[in-house]
Amino acid sequence: MEPLLHPEPHPLETLLLSRRFRLPNSRSIDTALANGAYQQFLKAASMTPDQIIAEVKASNLRGRGGAGFPVGLKWSFVPRTSPKPKYIVVNADESEPGTCKDRVIMQYDPHLLIEGCLIAGRSIDSKRGWIYIRGEYRYLIDIMDQAIDEAYARGWLGKNIQGTGIDFDLSTHSGAGAYECGEESALLESLEGNRGNPRIKPPFPATSGAFQCPTILNNVESYAAIPSILEMGGEKWASYGIPKAGGSKLTCLTGHLNRPGVYELALGFPVRKMLEEVGGGIRGGKKLKAFIPGGSSCPVLTGEEAWELTMDYDAMAKAKTMLGSGGVVVMDEDTDMVRAALRIMRFYQHESCGWCIPCREGTLWLKKLLTRLDAGDASAHDIDMVGELAENMLGRTFCALGDAAALPTISIVKKFRHEFEAKLAHKSVSLAGAQTLVNIHA
Ligand SMILES: Cc1cc2nc3c(=O)[nH]c(=O)nc-3n(C[C@H](O)[C@H](O)[C@H](O)COP(=O)(O)O)c2cc1C
Ligand code: SF4
Repeated sequence: MEPLLHPEPHPLETLLLSRRFRLPNSRSIDTALANGAYQQFLKAASMTPDQIIAEVKASNLRGRGGAGFPVGLKWSFVPRTSPKPKYIVVNADESEPGTCKDRVIMQYDPHLLIEGCLIAGRSIDSKRGWIYIRGEYRYLIDIMDQAIDEAYARGWLGKNIQGTGIDFDLSTHSGAGAYECGEESALLESLEGNRGNPRIKPPFPATSGAFQCPTILNNVESYAAIPSILEMGGEKWASYGIPKAGGSKLTCLTGHLNRPGVYELALGFPVRKMLEEVGGGIRGGKKLKAFIPGGSSCPVLTGEEAWELTMDYDAMAKAKTMLGSGGVVVMDEDTDMVRAALRIMRFYQHESCGWCIPCREGTLWLKKLLTRLDAGDASAHDIDMVGELAENMLGRTFCALGDAAALPTISIVKKFRHEFEAKLAHKSVSLAGAQTLVNIHA
């Protein structure tokens, strides 16, 4: 299996947050401290919360968990004063197929994430944080626990951190392998020890999050970006990206590429350059058939649609898809798109929490229909039915998992209908052939 992180960065990468990843023993606190870790927390300690939030706003950092909501704006929604404690929660559930970047941060630079949490804590006067990690990432829970222990031992967590008068406690919390627990409100339920069903919104976590207290909840990469933002200043950080999306993004190149891996690319990076130069081109010199920009919940683009786009939120929205979590999936000309739609639906059907009917029943029926279509054991009417069923789920579910299941399906049926029809035609030809043989032998 190809490594997620190549030994050397690609020359086209923009290294803002992955600068320490390739140092020997990069995850130890000694290496981290010798290479600048926790210095930005000390800077934050000398700034006011408003100044910190102003820098994060100036950076144009948009949430890296998928929705792309501006991070500084989200932090500004937390009430300045509150009779209740305020909390920091890290979403390290990373379960979206195609996405494998948060694990690289935790594996190679856990102290970067801890420092991001400390700065976030300082910005809202929070004294407690949790890192909610998907259960399948057992090895990362161990790595994070070890880094947290080191930080406590060296006075970078706990009471009166480095004499700043700031207190902050942090611990990991293991999920149990449910994709739905990556949805922020289901995550909070799970963190509180309840079943991971989503909550009605509003209220949003900024005012009523963990244990009904004001909470900042962000993705791992969003926190990991914060130290470099404070170090160079928000405006400078923003300048690496494009006007409405600052800085760089860890991009996961997966699928039929010669050099898959996780790369830190500036926002607005051209897709063609990303696939041909960074990813080394399509495997075997084949053509690009389909492209998912940001994890399996995004509408699928055809190769022709994808080539001239750039990796940014607005360009992808214009192309009627999403930048999402940066989990790029590349499918070459040999990919069976009916099988791909079925594979995606199997995942969502399995992960539906069952709370609301359109998602629970819709994903099950879609899986059944796609299974029949994949086997060629269906009718042309079933192709329409897949599209209609998926359309009917859109916007009618309790959380966004319903849309996440419907959107890729709708796009695949619309753009690759001929492949569904070909499966049906192939089956009827073989059935007709089989019938002829039966007649001959009769
Ligand atoms: C079904 C579902 C699964 C999600 N899974 C994740 C996840 O694994 N990691 C993540 O950061 N955000 C995930 N999200 C998005 C979160 O709800 C939330 O928007 C995000 O953690 C906010 O952080 P950000 O603003 O830094 O992106 C998921 C959303 C949904 C609807
Ligand atoms: S949309 Fe699906 S995952 Fe979300 S609450 Fe409804 S059943 Fe659960």
